[in-house]
Amino acid sequence: MNVAQAMQSRYATKVFDADKKIAQDDVAQLLSVLRNAPSSVNTQPWHFIIASTEAGKARINSGATGPYAYNAPKVSGASHVIVLCSKIHMDDEYLTQLLEQEETDGRFAKDPSFKATYHKVRSTFVDLHRYELKDTQHWMEKQVYLNLGALLTSAAIMGVDALPMEGFDFPALDAEFDLRGQNLAPVAVVALGYRAETDFNATLAKSRFTAEQIFTQI
Ligand SMILES: Cc1cc2nc3c(=O)[nH]c(=O)nc-3n(C[C@H](O)[C@H](O)[C@H](O)COP(=O)(O)O)c2cc1C
Repeated sequence: MNVAQAMQSRYATKVFDADKKIAQDDVAQLLSVLRNAPSSVNTQPWHFIIASTEAGKARINSGATGPYAYNAPKVSGASHVIVLCSKIHMDDEYLTQLLEQEETDGRFAKDPSFKATYHKVRSTFVDLHRYELKDTQHWMEKQVYLNLGALLTSAAIMGVDALPMEGFDFPALDAEFDLRGQNLAPVAVVALGYRAETDFNATLAKSRFTAEQIFTQI
């Protein structure tokens, strides 16, 4: 299956087969996608909570109550559920941590002077969002959504069914995992696994605007 076919055949899975679990190798691949996803000036402003146990999924379902209860069975039925979190603040200490990690990973091995240059470039971007655009949180959240896209595309290519969810009581999730205390905010939840035969959504026609409507070829 090529990428276009994978994207055509993927769909928002509404009923998971609770007996079908994702193989460990495939889980490892998906986590590797999350880790290797790109972010602006390599800021990686994210953290992921991965639930594969009933107890873990029940904790995530503390955010699927009241008006969001419709999403609870999707979490319970999935093999794995991931809460994608964004950082709330990006302080100078974090920028230093990033730089040190890049040095450890050998980014500056060929040219050590690149370390200071890159720190300056990244700080310029960060300061732009801090002081001019005043949208650091929004900027970081966009990086998390980019990662969500990578995750969903990868799952589709691997034949793993998925459901991204924004329909969650995020303050309740925040409280359950003390996210704020860890400088984190929940952005989206993704259920992963395999569709149940009873999933009505599997056989519905895909609906998208036509290519003529959304592409301008120049
Ligand atoms: C960011 C995002 C949030 C979504 N939130 C929910 C949700 O909370 N519950 C749900 O059942 N579907 C949710 N969906 C699924 C969308 O409704 C679905 O992707 C869209 O209708 C297109 O259909 P398709 O994915 O089957 O092609 C969400 C999708 C995205 C990308």
